[in-house]
Amino acid sequence: MADDNDKPVDALGRVLRDLRISVLDQCNFRCPYCMPAATFHDGYRFLTKEQRLSFDEIETLARAAVRLGVSKLRLTGGEPLLRRGLDELVGRLARIAGVEDLALTTNGVLLGDVAERLRAAGLDRVTVSLDSLDDATFAAMSGGRGDVASVLNGIERAAGAGFDAIKINTVVQRGVNDDTVLDLLEHFRGTGHIVRLIEYMDVGNRNGWNIDEVVPSATLLAEIHRRWPVVAVRPAYRGEVAKRYRYLDGAGEIGFISSVTQPFCGDCHRARLSADGVLYTCLFATEGTSLLPALRAGEDIDAIEARLRAIWGARRDRYSELRQPGGEQALKKVEMFRIGG
Ligand code: GTP
Ligand code: 5AD
Ligand code: SF4
Ligand code: SF4
Repeated sequence: MADDNDKPVDALGRVLRDLRISVLDQCNFRCPYCMPAATFHDGYRFLTKEQRLSFDEIETLARAAVRLGVSKLRLTGGEPLLRRGLDELVGRLARIAGVEDLALTTNGVLLGDVAERLRAAGLDRVTVSLDSLDDATFAAMSGGRGDVASVLNGIERAAGAGFDAIKINTVVQRGVNDDTVLDLLEHFRGTGHIVRLIEYMDVGNRNGWNIDEVVPSATLLAEIHRRWPVVAVRPAYRGEVAKRYRYLDGAGEIGFISSVTQPFCGDCHRARLSADGVLYTCLFATEGTSLLPALRAGEDIDAIEARLRAIWGARRDRYSELRQPGGEQALKKVEMFRIGG
């Protein structure tokens, strides 16, 4: 097992701290920027149960990653709450010594009914995606699935189950929901929940991304500051993705995730695992490494650890820093729904 001096660094000197695990490639939403309905229709072939990692396999990979320095795990999808028995997986991961932070990203619709069970199983935090409180705008951004009221109900019941400082992820798309951002912020002011405004990114190749649809965080910040003055807050940890601000009137905190205008690759300590066991070392990766054959061949955790170490050691990704205007569709990038953002 690796001791503290034996943690791998990648080719750019970055350690591995954060593993994001997609438990399912399916979703009950069809957000046009992630799973456009035209592509992800009834006939779309998602992974079969057999193709997906079992909980045993996920646990083995997580344990191996923890040996290499991972202390933060995040369960994602698609929509992770569609995976049956997720609370059992949460329990298993929460029991791994060295996991200091176990979080979940969800669209919130199914959260209300399971929040208590997830909390009891050992989940530390939840992050809920919510792009707008306006029903029509929400519908446009979720592909007409789900509704604002059930997402808000999910957030409320999660808070009731003991999750505090719930993060609300809001992707901002110019001309789609930028005019509803202030209303959304107003709703969550004073609740203790933290809205994070995410610049619309060129993830995958299916969303027809165009830089004109990106609202730079600096523009939003100026607009917000005029309405409710804010001041910058120091990062909670090194490499924090969101830049934090707090309202001067004490109504809480907000964050900006600005991968397009202010890339943060230099401090990127994240690896992403798809539901079929492919490890990606960047959100914009064009290829990953499948660990499924090794797992199914019965390799032990030491061998899996060695594989992860080799993958991380070879890592050179810094896509957001290299992004070329106009070049974003040239690469065949992994799709967001496979690795959950
Ligand atoms: P905390 O652990 O609460 O700080 O959350 P986080 O910073 O890990 O953020 P979260 O998982 O909620 O990510 C929010 C969004 O930021 C994701 O859905 C992505 O859209 C974007 N994001 C997260 N990590 C990266 C990254 O490594 N690169 C880029 N380009 N975007 C990222
Ligand atoms: N750009 C920015 N954020 C995105 N998300 C999905 N697709 C994109 C994109 N193209 C966000 C979701 C959710 C998280 C999993 O990733 O809205 O908050
Ligand atoms: Fe589902 Fe999230 Fe993708 Fe929307 S962004 S389709 S909620 S996985
Ligand atoms: Fe990390 Fe890739 Fe995002 Fe850069 S673009 S921060 S390397 S995931």
